[in-house]
Amino acid sequence: MLRVRHLEISDLITAVDPQDGRRLPVLRDEVVRQLRENGDERAARIVAELPVGRGGVLDPDAVDRLLVSVHTELQRLSEELRIGDRLVHLLRPLLTAIRTTTGQPGPYRLVDIGCGLGYLVRWLAATDALGPDVELIGVDLNAALVGEADRLARAEGLNCRFVHGNAFELPEAATVYVSTGVLHHFPGPALSGFFQAQAASPALAFCHYDIAATRLAPLGARVFHRARMRHPLGRHDGVVSALRAHSDEVLLRAASAPGMRALLYEPRRLSNPFCTTLRPVLGVRPQLEAPLRSALGRAARRLVGPEHLAEHLTEAAR
Ligand SMILES: C[S@@+](CC[C@H](N)C(=O)[O-])C[C@H]1O[C@@H](n2cnc3c(N)ncnc32)[C@H](O)[C@@H]1O
Repeated sequence: MLRVRHLEISDLITAVDPQDGRRLPVLRDEVVRQLRENGDERAARIVAELPVGRGGVLDPDAVDRLLVSVHTELQRLSEELRIGDRLVHLLRPLLTAIRTTTGQPGPYRLVDIGCGLGYLVRWLAATDALGPDVELIGVDLNAALVGEADRLARAEGLNCRFVHGNAFELPEAATVYVSTGVLHHFPGPALSGFFQAQAASPALAFCHYDIAATRLAPLGARVFHRARMRHPLGRHDGVVSALRAHSDEVLLRAASAPGMRALLYEPRRLSNPFCTTLRPVLGVRPQLEAPLRSALGRAARRLVGPEHLAEHLTEAAR
């Protein structure tokens, strides 16, 4: 059967009430049916093996254990791809721009949307890479993942916080929103809504890293996840993530929300397709663009706005 759209198993086996974060029951047969109808027999078989309780509801504890274990493997990938260093490369100049432009002493609040096990936030806290005036918060709708992030941070004695819930409903506003590996979970209109929520908030900027939609990405993901992930769910979702990755054009269009200047760092044309795995889309309040470029120095040449993307794509196609 023809695959209609790319579905990740991890998105289907948990459900929470978006208002209060309450866990909702998920029927295993329903997920299996959805995957079969979508033409993904392999994924349907993986889900059919998961344990159920009364009424055919997926065992929530077993699902949590599985997701924590898959994300633990995923964390190794973040380490190998040096996700912390990549973000700091942009966040340091961004915070310099924010400090000089606002003239406020801080604290500046960095919120990691969909932090999972909190690798990025814990890495930032452990390295103190952004300075003491930056408050580090990880937020996730998944209670098990964010609970584990909190446990690890306490065990490591780190100065950061983890919150269970919707990142857009925190009592305190973020100064900068970040994320890693989250954008491809939002298809079409939901992606625009994701960026609009940030543009409508008091936040001054965002920086979201996700899989670069290159032709090599699905193959790279297959090799990488085969080598690094043990559970079939992790292997399956890793490859589907790469297939779902948004193109540069889609990202820039969605991120160009009112009041935000959307920019891509190292779009396709400016990077080696064999090395590109992740690349960020940024949004900054318009008054921050010039100070950001100045703080980036020579690297500012790699920052491209929507008006320049067309010419980069033309050159890339040559
Ligand atoms: C694939 S995980 C990414 C985990 C982590 N960033 C990493 O790199 O390992 C995506 C996470 O985003 C979370 N998520 C999606 N929308 C969210 C929102 N509005 N607020 C908080 N978490 C959200 C989901 O619960 C899921 O755990």
